[in-house]
Amino acid sequence: MKVISVFNQKGGVGKTTTNINLCSYLAMKGYKILTIDIDPQGNTTSGLGIDKSNIDKSIYDVITNDSPLKDVILKSQLIENLYVAPSTLELAGAEIEIIEMKNRESILKNKINELNSEYDYVFIDCPPSLGLLTLNSLCVSSSVLIPIQAEFYALEGVGQLVNTIQLVKKSLNKRIYVEGVILTMFDNRTKLSNEVCKEVNKYFENKVYKTTIPRNIRLAEAPSFGLPILLYDDKCKGAECYDKLSEEFLTRQEG
Ligand SMILES: Nc1ncnc2c1ncn2[C@@H]1O[C@H](COP(=O)(O)OP(=O)(O)O)[C@@H](O)[C@H]1O
Ligand SMILES: [Mg+2]
Repeated sequence: MKVISVFNQKGGVGKTTTNINLCSYLAMKGYKILTIDIDPQGNTTSGLGIDKSNIDKSIYDVITNDSPLKDVILKSQLIENLYVAPSTLELAGAEIEIIEMKNRESILKNKINELNSEYDYVFIDCPPSLGLLTLNSLCVSSSVLIPIQAEFYALEGVGQLVNTIQLVKKSLNKRIYVEGVILTMFDNRTKLSNEVCKEVNKYFENKVYKTTIPRNIRLAEAPSFGLPILLYDDKCKGAECYDKLSEEFLTRQEG
């Protein structure tokens, strides 16, 4: 069982979109996937068709140490092999509630360890911050998947991001590494996107996936229907690219 954080402390760069769609394609290909939503916004939860107002227990109960993880996991009604640990706004208060706890950075790690490796991959959709929720995610992860939006300020904040991973590596999780970098909202025709691509490749060397994700309106529409792209419009460019990304992801796992 491999645990991967989808992380970039910048908001709106495509973390959740990448998480939902990568998980969906991997599950469709037969891998048993758990996605843990640790963003209080709960966009992975609702984007996978789970009604947040109807949730009995969420990742909040796990982080605050009131529930085992297995008690909050829901089987996706949409996709076989896909499981979701949902989040609700309540989670926003959890960081403050756990601040005094011993091992406050490793709560999620302990909970995931109780799962007995029953999934092939666990993907954690991180909030856009460097707080305790993110630290819990980085502490338990083998690697980090970093979506970067192909825009003028793309690399702004990336130094801080890498710094955070280095800090975690020094203290909490010695073996963590960068799984891969995904360029999102990419427009092949523009000079800007191609410049950003060059810069990001220089910074992350061989970590950047060849598959880029284009700006695609269908990808933005799908969550409002509570559907991953493969169920909303599996023929659109965005679907094609996330399918391809899942293949490239898997190829790298073998390598
Ligand atoms: N490739 C894309 N094309 C078009 N819209 C996108 C794309 N990726 C993400 N979006 C939209 O951009 C917004 C931010 O994306 P999201 O995945 O929620 O980012 P994050 O989780 O990093 O905050 C959302 O409204 C989402 O639907
Ligand atoms: Mg998000």
